[in-house]
Amino acid sequence: MPLPLAVLVSGNGTNLQAILDAIGQGALRAEVRLVLSNVAGAGALARAERAGVPVRVLEHRAFASRAEFDRAVAVAVREAGAEWIVLAGFMRILGPEVVGAFRHRIVNLHPALLPAFPGAHAHRDALAYGVKVTGCTVHLVDEGVDTGPIVLQRAVPVLDTDDEASLAARVRVEEHALLVAALRAISEGRLHVEAPAAGGRARVRIE
Ligand code: GAR
Repeated sequence: MPLPLAVLVSGNGTNLQAILDAIGQGALRAEVRLVLSNVAGAGALARAERAGVPVRVLEHRAFASRAEFDRAVAVAVREAGAEWIVLAGFMRILGPEVVGAFRHRIVNLHPALLPAFPGAHAHRDALAYGVKVTGCTVHLVDEGVDTGPIVLQRAVPVLDTDDEASLAARVRVEEHALLVAALRAISEGRLHVEAPAAGGRARVRIE
């Protein structure tokens, strides 16, 4: 069975597009059962509609609390029959209710080499720090912010001439390939989460 995915988005959706394209080309055995956005009018929704994928908009501000928003997300994902959640430019933190219900089955894409530059302004922070190399990370989501076990990473050089937009554009190219590679490993049953040694971190091993 193709890996049933729910892709959560807030923005333009180029990473969603990379997933849809890989599926269309037969390079990824998955099915996007739902694209869910917390932002009405997000470009990603139009991409989903063009691909004939069901969309839902759950605007977080319409919910009385974070927990209620989280519950609605979990219900929508389950109703769609998705088993994995992909955060592809989803700019909300998912709370413990969703993380616990989909333990080690939520994948996040982050535009930096974690644990460097977590949070919502990774490129700005990398440029402000003056690093010479940044990149992107796919990791499994835990209760922290951008802290879960790392699945794959790819490095991208920072150029002296870079601004946020140029750096983001170069990193994004790598993100597309990295996210598809991570999902392919999952769809082929090659991703294994190894329990932490006492006091350590869980790790991901890819066969
Ligand atoms: C991507 O660069 C992704 O890494 C980033 O949002 C962008 C979405 O682009 N995610 C985060 O910053 C999460 N903290 P897209 O909408 O074109 O896929």
